[in-house]
Amino acid sequence: MIWNTLLRLRAHFLESPSPSSATITTVSADSPDKYHAEIAIRPLSDSKGIELRFNTIGEHKGELCVIADSPFRVTVQPNHSLRPLEHQEIEQYLPYAVLPYFSHQHSKTFAISHFAQTLDGRIASCSGDSKWIGNWENLTHAHKMRAMCDAILVGASTLKTDQPRLNVRHVTGVNPLRVVIGNSISDDDIRSSSGEPVLVINTHNSTKLNEQVTLDAAVDGRIEGQAILRALYQRGVTSLYIEGGANTTSHFLKTLALDQVQVHVTPRILGSGVTGFEFGGVETIDQAVEFSNPRFVAMGNQMMFVGEVIRDRAEGNE
Ligand SMILES: NC(=O)c1ccc[n+]([C@@H]2O[C@H](COP(=O)([O-])OP(=O)(O)OC[C@H]3O[C@@H](n4cnc5c(N)ncnc54)[C@H](OP(=O)(O)O)[C@@H]3O)[C@@H](O)[C@H]2O)c1
Repeated sequence: MIWNTLLRLRAHFLESPSPSSATITTVSADSPDKYHAEIAIRPLSDSKGIELRFNTIGEHKGELCVIADSPFRVTVQPNHSLRPLEHQEIEQYLPYAVLPYFSHQHSKTFAISHFAQTLDGRIASCSGDSKWIGNWENLTHAHKMRAMCDAILVGASTLKTDQPRLNVRHVTGVNPLRVVIGNSISDDDIRSSSGEPVLVINTHNSTKLNEQVTLDAAVDGRIEGQAILRALYQRGVTSLYIEGGANTTSHFLKTLALDQVQVHVTPRILGSGVTGFEFGGVETIDQAVEFSNPRFVAMGNQMMFVGEVIRDRAEGNE
């Protein structure tokens, strides 16, 4: 029930990203108690974020105040009428619902990466098999994130190996813009993974049937993550969900273009295979990429790490 309210909130911020007071109403017609929420939105002073006051009517009648004062951070006032799962859903997904507002404030596309990896840090076996490293809760989470982001991106190898459909199937929500990156991508690769249009990012034309954004390569032959984000921002993309693979996500991290990292950890060991993050490495532990607000979220009987990349520390790793 609260999921539909969060989707409605996201739609509101997509339509009206600039700070202004508003009240939106959501009604979940399919729920037996006709769950109904009225949300009063108020910008905080000095453009420091927004306050959201939820007023819910129905079986779980109550009031709830949430402060969103920076990207990815919300403070949810304790509310006893809210079921623990609803509270968790708000804490976990409301930051993405309000991301269009922060995108507008910061004039940028926010990039979030997601992997499912084993205890030994593998996202695929040596044969490239990765279906499925995570669990059902992780799959549902990935689909919620797809619904909460404007665009989803994968690298050429993931497109060819996994043939992901990159749409929203396990929850309600609107499909994100599908973006694939790489010069080796042909129309056949895209046709085999999805019938709907896909945006291809490359350094020279490689497809005929799909729209392309051709960007210059940096010294290492790859397109800089920031250049990709700028191109997407110009197309109105406020948030990008990067679903791998390792090469693609590591390049975004290395070029300081990742805002948030989500790493799902499953209790399996593969011994060898594709490592999640691989970018040349650091000499000493104090040069490691670190995260602000690091947290571990339960995903059924597994867990997911979520944190925001600290860019100053990452700069030291270049
Ligand atoms: N466990 C999980 O959650 C998960 C998620 C996703 C994928 N996987 C697994 O990961 C494996 C694939 O990962 P991978 O690291 O081998 O490959 P990948 O990241 O999927 O694709 C790498 C390719 O993408 C293109 N590319 C990426 N970044 C680019 C940039 N900045 N500029 C230009 N081109 C760029 C290049 O394609 P071109 O060479 O064509 O130019 C590059 O060779 C598969 O086995 C897949 O199953 C696992």
